Amino acid sequence: MPVIEATGLGYSEIKPLIGAVVHAGKEALLAGSHSADIRELMEQRGVLLFPEARFSEQELVAFTRTLGQFAADRDDDMPTPISIDPAGGTGADYTRSSFFWHFDGYMNPVPVRASILCAKALSASGGDTEFCNTYAAYDALPEERKRQLEGLSAVHALAGAQLSVEPEPSYETFRQWLGVRRNTLPLVWTHRSGRKSLVIGNTAVNVVGMDPLDGLELLVWLRDWATQERFSYSHRWTVGDAVMWDNTGTLHRVTPYPADSGRLMFRTKLAGEEPFA
Ligand SMILES: [Fe+2]
Repeated sequence: MPVIEATGLGYSEIKPLIGAVVHAGKEALLAGSHSADIRELMEQRGVLLFPEARFSEQELVAFTRTLGQFAADRDDDMPTPISIDPAGGTGADYTRSSFFWHFDGYMNPVPVRASILCAKALSASGGDTEFCNTYAAYDALPEERKRQLEGLSAVHALAGAQLSVEPEPSYETFRQWLGVRRNTLPLVWTHRSGRKSLVIGNTAVNVVGMDPLDGLELLVWLRDWATQERFSYSHRWTVGDAVMWDNTGTLHRVTPYPADSGRLMFRTKLAGEEPFA
């Protein structure tokens, strides 16, 4: 098992190009003893698993705060419950679009740095969370494709994600989707570190300057490429697991599960630190 020498944080890689299991006790995690190493490991591996960490909601927030700036979604600074049960709250319809590959916060100039998800209750079927490493996917692109992508950008909009869930919305509904900010983002993000990742997902609706169908063809090709088995990891949850991912270098989705399954997750987010570029 590799160990980061500075603090003795142990981890094991899940697949060659994505994922690591972190071996650390809850007390050390909450004390922030490994926070710098955890951030570095997330940057390198894309997805980190803390098996059966069993964070309470308060502990999840406390752990998040050790890693950076906690970006609260709620007024009470507690984690956001994630459920597709219509009885579970107003976000259920939007949460359903998470059945398709995406990253979080496309509308923000400085996107969410990382998300942490904890499993409270699981579905008897489906509900696995899948990730792909968009750094690794970019690095492995054929050189000709990398040249094609230089300078290209895509328009991202909520409508892109919602049409996959509701293909024939009323005009009123569609107008509501359009009321949410859209954003034009580079297809390739050159990070301050010098590393490059792909910026794609179900919010991307077209490529600027391309014929709509040709642009869509490119977006489909890129998604198909980036989500290949070698760049991906599918997490089968155990109650109490915590999974953290680098939202700036991965895509994620959840495999479909019944709305009434009782599946309930809690999520926190680390505030963005670097604008798209
Ligand atoms: Fe998401």
